[in-house]
Amino acid sequence: TGLVTVDPGFMNTASCSSAITYIDGDLGILRYRGYPIEQLAEHSTFLEVAYLLIHGELPSADELMAFNNRVARHMHVHEGIKSFLNSFPREAQPMAVLSGAVSALSTFYPESVGRGEYEIELATVQLLAKTAVVVAYLQRRVTGGELIQPRPGGLYVDEFLRIAFSGQDGELDIDPTVRRALDLLLILHADHEQNCSTSTVRIVGSSQANIYAAVSAGIGALSGPLHGGANEAALKMFDQIKESGDTVEQFVAKVKDRAEGARLMGFGHRVYKSYDPRGTVVKRIADQVLDQLGGNNETFDMAKRLEEIALSDDYFVERKLYPNVDFYTGLVYSAMKFPVPMFTPLFALGRMPGWIANFREMMDDPRTKIGRPRQIYTGSVERDYTAMEER
Ligand code: CMC
Repeated sequence: TGLVTVDPGFMNTASCSSAITYIDGDLGILRYRGYPIEQLAEHSTFLEVAYLLIHGELPSADELMAFNNRVARHMHVHEGIKSFLNSFPREAQPMAVLSGAVSALSTFYPESVGRGEYEIELATVQLLAKTAVVVAYLQRRVTGGELIQPRPGGLYVDEFLRIAFSGQDGELDIDPTVRRALDLLLILHADHEQNCSTSTVRIVGSSQANIYAAVSAGIGALSGPLHGGANEAALKMFDQIKESGDTVEQFVAKVKDRAEGARLMGFGHRVYKSYDPRGTVVKRIADQVLDQLGGNNETFDMAKRLEEIALSDDYFVERKLYPNVDFYTGLVYSAMKFPVPMFTPLFALGRMPGWIANFREMMDDPRTKIGRPRQIYTGSVERDYTAMEER
């Protein structure tokens, strides 16, 4: 073990090579399979991006239609999954329920469990399709509705919105602004190379556990406030600033003093040392969405002011802390009428293609070995067992 060095948080350790996503943190560049995120955000749809991430190339029109149809066919969920979801208290933390539900999918669809081509293709489609329905069901649970089945052949984003927002009759007029904004937000979240949840998916999968177990663990990692939970935490932070009566300047001063452990949620990133390119797109759509749907402009103005003050403050400048994707997403989700507990599950829905693509790449890479880091032991040297009466 002479060569072992400790690298907390894996700041300088590459765990794999990957051909999926490229990030240049200094220049604020993000590309999926070589395509700039800005171009995908403008021209693509979520399932098209999912296909790109998973299969490596943009689909032809026929390939995309077949993929969309296949996902649509698998949106129907087993009654057992509904019972499973209904067995949790309505106020249950949705990310915990989601993680459990994804793990349980392997028991309802055992034919998709395995590492052969047939199984992994089926699991890919199952995970994309079923997660959309389960996340929409989580919303129905939060808002008090019964769980309705998807309609055969319904389009992915439309069916998701219909299940999430319709009343008991299952009817919903989908606002085109909401449809487009959701598609875009899902695209922006679709992959981000070796982040905490994706690394978790890979490390669980490296033991040859099945993809459902790996993704379920990834959902657990995503739930933390330093990762996917930051979108919810950022919105709560805006509300707390308003309630406390502090000015934005006073709040920034508290963050700098590290008073009460305050951090500026939605700011900072391990890799980006400039503006998160996803944040730029989210800020732009926040402007449009809030304008068209009548969101909370007062909070949006406060968030923009918070950003402005932080970006001109030495503390943030020296540490290269910029807004990340989570700074403005909560505001957009709110304007779209998603309840706050749904924000992080929406991130999970978006990240699903990235988890799947990384799992598959890990599985196909002959250099993959079981993830098993070393440690530097700092405990006691050998000592003899002490009898109970002598302690
Ligand atoms: N507010 C105040 N100070 C901060 C912040 C922040 N948001 N982020 C980092 N710092 C400071 C930190 O205190 C440290 O200062 P010092 O060197 O004086 O001790 C320095 O900046 C470096 O921070 P770090 O914690 O060592 O950096 P990291 O790469 O380990 O952490 C991070 C990255 C994203 C966890 C962190 O920036 C953070 O906690 N941000 C807030 C939570 C957040 O927005 N997370 C979402 C990340 S993007 C999407 C996602 O992954 O879900």
